[in-house]
Amino acid sequence: MRAAGATGLVLLGALLCAGRGASGADPIVETSPNVTSGLDVVISCNISEPPSPITGHMWKKGDKILTSDKETSDYTTYKIGEVNGDSSGVYECIFETDPPVSRTVYVTVKPHVTAYKKSEHGNEGDTGVMICRCNSYPPVSQWTWYKIKSDVNEAIINGTEKFIIKSSGNKTELRIANLDIEKDPGEYICNATNELGTSGAVVGLRVRSRLAALWPFLGIVAEVLILVTIIFIYEKRRKPDEVLDDDDGGSAPLKSNPPNHKDKNVRQRNAN
Ligand SMILES: *[C@@H]1O[C@H](CO)[C@@H](O)[C@H](O)[C@H]1NC(C)=O
Ligand SMILES: *[C@@H]1O[C@H](CO)[C@@H](O)[C@H](O)[C@H]1NC(C)=O
Ligand SMILES: *[C@@H]1O[C@H](CO)[C@@H](O)[C@H](O)[C@H]1NC(C)=O
Ligand SMILES: *[C@@H]1O[C@H](CO)[C@@H](O)[C@H](O)[C@H]1NC(C)=O
Ligand SMILES: *[C@@H]1O[C@H](CO)[C@@H](O)[C@H](O)[C@H]1NC(C)=O
Repeated sequence: MRAAGATGLVLLGALLCAGRGASGADPIVETSPNVTSGLDVVISCNISEPPSPITGHMWKKGDKILTSDKETSDYTTYKIGEVNGDSSGVYECIFETDPPVSRTVYVTVKPHVTAYKKSEHGNEGDTGVMICRCNSYPPVSQWTWYKIKSDVNEAIINGTEKFIIKSSGNKTELRIANLDIEKDPGEYICNATNELGTSGAVVGLRVRSRLAALWPFLGIVAEVLILVTIIFIYEKRRKPDEVLDDDDGGSAPLKSNPPNHKDKNVRQRNAN
């Protein structure tokens, strides 16, 4: 009996504490509505019945502190220059009270998608990679890739031998295996969808033939061949002299004795 009574008291105490905590941490704060577009947009928070005198304000976006002051007003604002992909996000106004009171204002936009490179290229037979990013808020719920065709864009199906799509929140990657010079070049579009809508970015793909990739190398080979040919022809013209030199057991004087030229040829013929 006594144990039960004690438990009851503890429970009652816990409930009272929870109740007081909740009412203390829950003063009335009016926030400006969610923002979805505009220039020089002002967001605000307005507190009534703060839990203790206000000693300052702060605005944060994620972990980043945007502004802070030591004013005592029950009203605080923050100005957003332009609502776009970068400025979108979760904003938090904080009243410096005991305990601090904070509220959130959402700045939401349609996805702002950017292509990592507007134009990619690969060699025939290689794997082509195209990347798009989207850092706007709210996060992307779905990525889709299309190949742009003159009539209807063709959705790219993931997980075939040809196409692999890897998407992770703010980034998507399309890999095209075994690039084909006829079928694969063209324009692709990566579309991102979030709560507010869909938008995309275009990436161009060029495919070079294997031969084109080899051109610089072939150029060098050609140069070497021409050089070798020239040397060969030159050597061939001089050859009679040298053959003779060798036959003569490398006797040096012959080489430095041009007047003997006729003689040598005669002798060579005889030797043959
Ligand atoms: C504001 O945006 C957030 C996040 O997108 C959403 O959960 C909330 O319902 C929105 N509030 C209003 C009033 O539209
Ligand atoms: C802030 O709150 C006060 C009192 O609750 C109200 O009179 C005033 O209009 C509010 N201001 C804004 C900008 O919401
Ligand atoms: C696409 O398929 C690959 C493998 O088949 C898988 O790893 C990947 O998660 C898929 N991507 C999407 C966006 O479904
Ligand atoms: C976007 O991707 C980068 C790089 O992976 C990551 O650091 C960042 O936290 C992501 N941003 C969001 C909003 O998810
Ligand atoms: C993909 O995005 C483009 C450009 O933002 C848009 O015109 C097109 O309608 C989107 N496609 C789909 C299927 O949503």
